[in-house]
Amino acid sequence: MNTEPVLILGIETSCDETAASVVADGKQILSNLVSSQVQLHAPFGGVVPEIASRQHLSLLNTLVEQALQDACIELADLQAIAISHGPGLVGALLVGVATAKALAYACRLPLVAVNHLEAHLYANELGGEAIVYPAVNLIVSGGHTQLLLLEKSGSITSLGRTRDDAAGEAFDKVARVLELGYPGGPLIDKMAREGNPAAVDFPRAWLKDDHRYDFSFSGLKTAVINHLYHARRKNETVNLPDVVASFQEALIEVLVEKTLAAALNFKAKTVLMSGGVAANSYLRRRMKKRLAEALPAVDLRYPPPELCTDNAAMIAAAAYHHYQEGHFAPLDLNARPGLSL
Ligand code: KG4
Ligand code: ZN
Repeated sequence: MNTEPVLILGIETSCDETAASVVADGKQILSNLVSSQVQLHAPFGGVVPEIASRQHLSLLNTLVEQALQDACIELADLQAIAISHGPGLVGALLVGVATAKALAYACRLPLVAVNHLEAHLYANELGGEAIVYPAVNLIVSGGHTQLLLLEKSGSITSLGRTRDDAAGEAFDKVARVLELGYPGGPLIDKMAREGNPAAVDFPRAWLKDDHRYDFSFSGLKTAVINHLYHARRKNETVNLPDVVASFQEALIEVLVEKTLAAALNFKAKTVLMSGGVAANSYLRRRMKKRLAEALPAVDLRYPPPELCTDNAAMIAAAAYHHYQEGHFAPLDLNARPGLSL
């Protein structure tokens, strides 16, 4: 029996992070390089797609070389090349897809196409144990907010998703209105620690019946904007930490309670969180506390903050499952900006 580890090179270029990583057996990170473009996009208050693609183009080859070097391996030592081919910005995705296809062709290696959202989920296997099923996964990123039911490995059912803004998008937009900077999530996370989460009673969109696992955050965002507008009209001083903490409270209460309801309903053994917003310190604390109170037998897992946000190790982690099932992509693979789960 071959006991050599399966080494996969993961590549990620779906939005504003250029990333390359080598992972052994989908769990052990041998190298993990992420070049963030945050500084380039910050003056515009959001990601500029053209700038993102150009930056991927100029950085990716060097990052791939460096990722191999850091892992102390050569291209010939790899078993597969994995690429996130969607969802994301089409121009940005294409840079990664073209690079991965060229490497796979030149090195005669299998190509594995990974859904970026599925990769966020498998970030939970990096550094250790396999996921215990059935599991419920809350994906909360800048572009997506979705609840998934994982009955067994490879069986992913979408329970619900956001109808408008993603959770991270709501953080970023509220931060922009408050002129806090970009990206807003980490800034709000920090500022909210100084505020009173009960200061303003912002609305929670619970949504009912068939939509009970769906989310909606645009009303909350509008309520924050209205609150500021009315305060300014009345010449009242706004306590920013209070507003920010109350906004975060409203958004996170909905994320936590819906995840709990799904875990209870589907008898989950594990609750997983993934995506950039899963790095939020209050979400982590709140989810832990509510699960301990309501479902103490359920295990909670989330990746370390640097593996919650976009990275290529999670691409290689997800690809390992496809590799084991012999599920490979053809060399005419295209970018799929609207790919869903
Ligand atoms: O997963 P990710 O890196 O990219 C996407 O796939 O979208 O997520 C980025 C999002 C941004 O909206 C950012 O503001 C948010 O994650 N984020 C956070 C925190 N860290 C990153 N939101 C709340 N609290 C944080 N600590
Ligand atoms: Zn992402």
